[in-house]
Amino acid sequence: MSFDTLLKGGVLPDGTTADIAIRDGRIAAISPAIEAEAGEIIDITGDLVSPPFVDPHFHMDATLSYGLPRINASGTLLEGIGLWGELKPLLTHEAVKERALAYCDWAASMGLLAIRTHVDVCDDRLLAVEALLEVKKEIAHYIDLQLVAFPQDGLYRSSTARENTIRALDLGVDVVGGIPHFERTMADGRASVTELCEIAAERGLMVDMHCDETDDPLSRHVEQLAYETQRLGLQGRVAGSHLTSMHSMDNYYVSKLLPLIAEAEVAAIPNPLINITLQGRHDTYPKRRGMTRVPEMLKHGIRVGFGQDCVLDPWYSLGTADMLDVAFMGLHVAQMTSPEDMRRCYEMVTTESAAIMGLEDYGLEAGKRADLVVLDAGNPIEAIRLRATRLMVMARGKVIARRERSPMRLDIPGRKADIDRRFRIADPS
Ligand code: FE2
Repeated sequence: MSFDTLLKGGVLPDGTTADIAIRDGRIAAISPAIEAEAGEIIDITGDLVSPPFVDPHFHMDATLSYGLPRINASGTLLEGIGLWGELKPLLTHEAVKERALAYCDWAASMGLLAIRTHVDVCDDRLLAVEALLEVKKEIAHYIDLQLVAFPQDGLYRSSTARENTIRALDLGVDVVGGIPHFERTMADGRASVTELCEIAAERGLMVDMHCDETDDPLSRHVEQLAYETQRLGLQGRVAGSHLTSMHSMDNYYVSKLLPLIAEAEVAAIPNPLINITLQGRHDTYPKRRGMTRVPEMLKHGIRVGFGQDCVLDPWYSLGTADMLDVAFMGLHVAQMTSPEDMRRCYEMVTTESAAIMGLEDYGLEAGKRADLVVLDAGNPIEAIRLRATRLMVMARGKVIARRERSPMRLDIPGRKADIDRRFRIADPS
């Protein structure tokens, strides 16, 4: 039997070693030892081979706009929204598309092959929506891009947001978004959750709402999101992004809230890099971390995926499309340092986020699409520790990025060595 490509000796995220045979863009076989002919045989012995990284929360219409027209001086969410409002009228179709495509090059090179991006619909031109719908088509052979209709300025607070949200969905945007904590009142926020979930239910769409992205311990929109999910039968199709207020909520209330979220099968998407920088800005000391309660949600069986949210835009001045940075920060802020928890953090930037996005063709299994990444690391924990080099990225069975291992030679008098930062825990037996 002959294959297009055969990867030999890779280490899967669960620690087992496997050969992976690829034919016609799909994984034809995956097992400990495959002896067969192939157009190309690639030796990846000892390197981690993983399904691609997945970013379940991003803003591709704003990415790479850092400094336009100025930078966020206070570092707050609200100044970021104001700044984006200044930039929005200056956007052009071409510029949005060019920045998005440049970002997708970064993403592909980092093995990030599935992205859910919110797209602001509070611009009556719907220019960013149209630009990103074009981008989605153009990159479909290497990145799965999912768009969320996001009324950034508030479904009710912005006079045309409701109408524009519907227009964006009519144009083919995949998911219904919202921002209840930014509406004028708690009541308006609550009503927006209800109406947006009803729109999603009518159209058979998923929901992903920016929800309670504040330090306000009394923000209650995720409770409403869970309620509407139950009422409308949307279980498994709804995500609450950020949920930062849960960090500050009363413990008793959270003990009631988490089972409700679990029961409604609402997923959570914290964005550790952004939550740790934007939240807590009104605090003196002690200063709140502003990330939602990840270990507690996991204990309740709530699905959690880590998102990146921003790269070089009005809200965040750093970022490289590296989901291992996201996992690294999430692991630290959530204090998820046991081996099991660290592996969980890796899953939250791969398989768990893929499940939230409903990516049915994702995963290293026979029959699935041949999308994968090979890392200069021996396991997922090491990948996070090193933010490991991507040695190879494959999309739809084609190698789309390769990078040589880049060892460093230490040349100190009396101490010369090749630096290898990979590490094996000594076997106690
Ligand atoms: Fe966001």
